[in-house]
Amino acid sequence: MKFVLSTIAGVESIAKKEIERQWWKIEEVTDRLVTFSWWIELMPRINLWSRVWNKLYLLLEEQNNVGDFDTLFNLIYSINWKKYFKKDYPILVKTSSTRSTLFSARTIQSLWKKAIVKKVVWEDSIMKEDFNLENLEILILIIDNRVRILLNTSWNALHMRWYRIQAWEAPIKESLAAAMVFLSDWKFREPLYDPFCGSWTIVIEALMIAKNIAPWLKRAFAYEKLWLIDWETSENERILARSKTFDWEYIIFASDIDSKMIELAKENAIRAWLAWQINFEIKDFKQYLDMEIHWTLVSNPPYWERLKNENLKSMYNNIDKIFRINSKLSWWIISNFMEFDSLIKAEDYKKRKLYNGWEKCYFWRRK
Ligand SMILES: C[S@@+](CC[C@H](N)C(=O)[O-])C[C@H]1O[C@@H](n2cnc3c(N)ncnc32)[C@H](O)[C@@H]1O
Repeated sequence: MKFVLSTIAGVESIAKKEIERQWWKIEEVTDRLVTFSWWIELMPRINLWSRVWNKLYLLLEEQNNVGDFDTLFNLIYSINWKKYFKKDYPILVKTSSTRSTLFSARTIQSLWKKAIVKKVVWEDSIMKEDFNLENLEILILIIDNRVRILLNTSWNALHMRWYRIQAWEAPIKESLAAAMVFLSDWKFREPLYDPFCGSWTIVIEALMIAKNIAPWLKRAFAYEKLWLIDWETSENERILARSKTFDWEYIIFASDIDSKMIELAKENAIRAWLAWQINFEIKDFKQYLDMEIHWTLVSNPPYWERLKNENLKSMYNNIDKIFRINSKLSWWIISNFMEFDSLIKAEDYKKRKLYNGWEKCYFWRRK
């Protein structure tokens, strides 16, 4: 079977590495999409272990050079829909068209309905506006006239973790936080710092990676409503995933200047069963100017006006200073404060483009 994973922009190569680590065969990596093939039975595993990707789709059909509605109709009609869906499940059809001849979402959706009704005569197949746990989602993805008909096996996007009920201003996406930890190359047995920790997203994701906790053990997936794999296969994958967790004394320092944060952030960490492994302090990051720190720091300093930081420039000057005086510290910050470039010597830094939602950021590191 062929699968298509959607990711946030900028982390496709990390998703690819994660997939290769499991020996699945990569077919193609393009902008925010990774295509690979493997057995259908592994669908639960991919969903359970999803750290940096958004949704896992099953590729039902694809065709290049689709420039007219008749061809699209025939492509939809050629799929054996009964193989996937139980009768009566409401199905939501989404469309996305980029640089292509066919682009009207409304026309594509009504075409889909005609084709599927003709094929399976589901007179009671309903097209719902909203996507909820009762709905199954089909995505008709058209890029440069290449049509892919995709079945969402995940349900809601996998970047929103179950533990986060409390977020503060400007929280980072969980999948992005996990990607940053991977990129930082943090050695799990060494200390990790986040001096602007907010709701603790980075440190919670770091601990979940270090302890090899599958991020999605406690949720339901869309594939459980399909006719593709049986319940035992799915449950066995959960049991296997649980058995892969391991423990160690990790040394994690999270701090933030805002005392209101602590209770909210703690609730997240308690839900993730990780609170006791995080050393939290209410602390201005400037205190690090007088301390010597080693090992790894991954953080997300403030960069939005609405965080009411009056002097971002001086804050970023101090961040740079802390990194200069701690030559043994391997550090990484994500920010969209582009003026940081004008405060530092470009040749001393490496940077990588990443997106927090649609917001372009850089992930900076001193060489
Ligand atoms: C962009 S947010 C971090 C969000 C976090 N990554 C999350 O996912 O929730 C920046 C954080 O920096 C904190 N902050 C602002 N000024 C600070 C300072 N001088 N020292 C330490 N923390 C500060 C804010 O309270 C805020 O929680």
